[in-house]
Amino acid sequence: MAAHSGRPLPSGVPDGYGPLLVQSAGTRQMTGTAESTALDRPNVEQALAAFGLLRDYFEGALIVDREARITWIDQRYRDLLGLAPGFDPSGLPVEQVIPHSLMRRVVETGRPVLVDIMEFGERQLVVCRIPLKDGTGAVTGAIGFVFYDRVDYLAPILEKFALLRRQLTRAQTALSEARASKYTLSSFVGTSPAVRELKAQVRRYALRDGATLITGETGTGKELLAHAIHQQSDRADGPFVAVNMAAVPESLLEAEFFGVAPGAYTGADRKSRKGKFELAHGGTLFLDEIGDMPLGIQSKLLRVLQDGEIEPLGSNTVRKVDVRIVAASAQDLPARIASRQFRADLYYRIAVLTLAIPPLRERLGDIAVLCEALLEATPRAPDQRGWIIDAEALSLLQRHDWPGNVRELGNVLERAAAMAASERIDSGLIRAALPATGTHDSGASPELATLMAEAERTAILAALERCGGRKLDAARALGVSRSQFYEKLKRHGLSA
Ligand SMILES: Nc1ncnc2c1ncn2[C@@H]1O[C@H](COP(=O)(O)OP(=O)(O)OP(=O)(O)O)[C@@H](O)[C@H]1O
Ligand SMILES: [Mg+2]
Repeated sequence: MAAHSGRPLPSGVPDGYGPLLVQSAGTRQMTGTAESTALDRPNVEQALAAFGLLRDYFEGALIVDREARITWIDQRYRDLLGLAPGFDPSGLPVEQVIPHSLMRRVVETGRPVLVDIMEFGERQLVVCRIPLKDGTGAVTGAIGFVFYDRVDYLAPILEKFALLRRQLTRAQTALSEARASKYTLSSFVGTSPAVRELKAQVRRYALRDGATLITGETGTGKELLAHAIHQQSDRADGPFVAVNMAAVPESLLEAEFFGVAPGAYTGADRKSRKGKFELAHGGTLFLDEIGDMPLGIQSKLLRVLQDGEIEPLGSNTVRKVDVRIVAASAQDLPARIASRQFRADLYYRIAVLTLAIPPLRERLGDIAVLCEALLEATPRAPDQRGWIIDAEALSLLQRHDWPGNVRELGNVLERAAAMAASERIDSGLIRAALPATGTHDSGASPELATLMAEAERTAILAALERCGGRKLDAARALGVSRSQFYEKLKRHGLSA
């Protein structure tokens, strides 16, 4: 094929096509059934006729040599590619003219790619690539044909391709939505001074891009807050990617973080895999339970934070990444530094901004709004309106010491709701749903609850008497809403 060396061939009559066309099955069929001799001695005439026949169906053709350099290209393909009239591509590596060409693979493997779809701008074309071989079977080059996208018999393939493309786009969108953060700052419920200050701090920090460390006991909402920080920041449109140090085995953490270059593991997965750092590029990387990070990974992470570059496993190239780190820990990190389980230099890198979430027992005032928000998300029977939690039940909840914090509160409410016969959650249900230990409610407290309920009942009756039985006035006198008042009447058996 090197003999062509860029010389434009008369259309349909290139020399050197004999071996290709006679070897192909289609030509064999065209040489007819009787003349088996035609297979032995190439019938060049018929072969060229076949090529001419094919010419009506393809939109362009291209020939490359053994090194995948262009040796011939027809005018229609030139037009399709939009090559300048004076430009001679011969001798150029094919990828310089057609960036994603597979011709090199065909000459390297000696195997054809009979049907493939290639995109030219908005158009999708079917392409067919066949290796050219000499008499000994050695590859001398390859020829590629581009077929019309308008012909009927290609329509099913192209339709299928378009469908798969749409499905891929949808899957990618769903994936990026899943990666995007779910919670905003308003999902972090609480009105106590401590929570208000915490939220104000988040808003201040959001404008800065520094690494942020969130500390707090289990179930205080560290993960929720990490999402909220991302949402509040300039990176909200970027990905939110989480890695839980406690959940990933140490041997896999490095690959998980920094990715794997193709063929890094012999035999295994030959494809490359992106690490979480790369996936979080342009967004936020949440390092959950950072106190559990093994020391070896700590020093690698430190290097990445210092250089802003990652090096995938088994590769010798580095990549720049732009990621904001938000870390969380339920453990006392300074104590872990003292016991040499956590690097002090890493600590100072990630604790540029710090947020400490107070435990629930230090903000019992938030319990009422938390119950409201958590119950809102608790499933209820279709005939039930909203859940109603009564005052006595609330006061019972406020006397629990909440070692599991908001998560535990959520669990207790869920248990109570599951046991409830109606939309009303009373103290009996809460008592049954609370864990047996951890509460200082046994003994005196039920008496207190009874006393409080008694006092409320007395107050209601007194108000009604003062207002001559007018319920609206009585409600106003007690400082409760109309619906709350009716609810209380019902609870105390006074609504008749
Ligand atoms: N302030 C809050 N408002 C609403 N829901 C909250 C709040 N804090 C926590 N939650 C809920 O409590 C549960 C636990 O929260 P999260 O997983 O964020 O806690 P965590 O601090 O990461 O816990 P752990 O240390 O156990 O991982 C979640 O369902 C979360 O939605
Ligand atoms: Mg967590």
